[in-house]
Amino acid sequence: SPSPAVEALQHGDVARLLPRPDAESDKYRRGVVGVVAGSARYPGAAVLAVAGALRSGAGAVRYAGPGADTVIARYPETLVSAGPPRKAGRVQAWVVGPGLGDEQDARQAVAEVLDSDVPLLVDADGLRLMDLDAVRARTAPTVLTPHAGEASALLGVPREQVEGARLASVRDLAARTASTVLLKGSTTLVADPDSSVPVRVNATGTGWLATAGTGDVLSGLIGGLLAAGLPARDAASAGAYVHGLAGRLAPDPPSATNVAGALRHAWHDITT
Ligand code: APR
Ligand code: MG
Repeated sequence: SPSPAVEALQHGDVARLLPRPDAESDKYRRGVVGVVAGSARYPGAAVLAVAGALRSGAGAVRYAGPGADTVIARYPETLVSAGPPRKAGRVQAWVVGPGLGDEQDARQAVAEVLDSDVPLLVDADGLRLMDLDAVRARTAPTVLTPHAGEASALLGVPREQVEGARLASVRDLAARTASTVLLKGSTTLVADPDSSVPVRVNATGTGWLATAGTGDVLSGLIGGLLAAGLPARDAASAGAYVHGLAGRLAPDPPSATNVAGALRHAWHDITT
């Protein structure tokens, strides 16, 4: 029989997907996620993306952007490297884009991580700076995480058209970019580049997540799940599930920092 067009992850599915350490674990085998985010104009985006990555179950977070001092002041456990991403140490996945701005350095950093052979998540400014041919030419999985406005820019159609046909839009964008696409909104949709694979719908979120910076936390979280070894579609949909639950478990009205802090409560709720 034909596979259904959409499906939803359940609590037990997510519990099985989330990384869990065992007696043999070491931090490198648990995965290192590299984060390229933030700028003089948006220094906080780097902190929020790192916050999400630190609560993803990956073994370490490596920051390779212009805001190392700000990140370290908040999270001293972050590995930082000055200079461009290609000069940072080895990572198992990259996150690029939150608050990156559009200076020449930002454009160059996006090009470098697109050129890497590890899984990559592109969000926010990265979605504007990325070269579509370079995205399609990647050899490792790519996850794009647009909101409706960013998806409309990528598809070259009005935002209302995306909002009026979210399922068709996310599938179209995944096919055109040969990437896993997570379309944000009151429900989150995750489409696979293979159009025969069902789109995953996530409805664990809440309207309280509609506050500045929560998307940056989501990017770091999903990037960390990629570094831990989850396939792109599972990383994106499990990440959306945990992030949405964190939005519910944080005290109302949560800030993005509170959502990041509540990730551990969501994690606990799912895995126990
Ligand atoms: N119900 C449930 N979840 C919601 C709702 C809602 N009504 N509205 C938003 N969300 C969730 C989204 O699914 C997503 O996980 O909140 C998050 C918002 O993410 P973004 O739209 O990326 O917002 P933000 O973090 O502020 O983005 C920061 O990046 O994308 C750019 O233009 C954006 O400059 C801004 C920056
Ligand atoms: Mg955003």
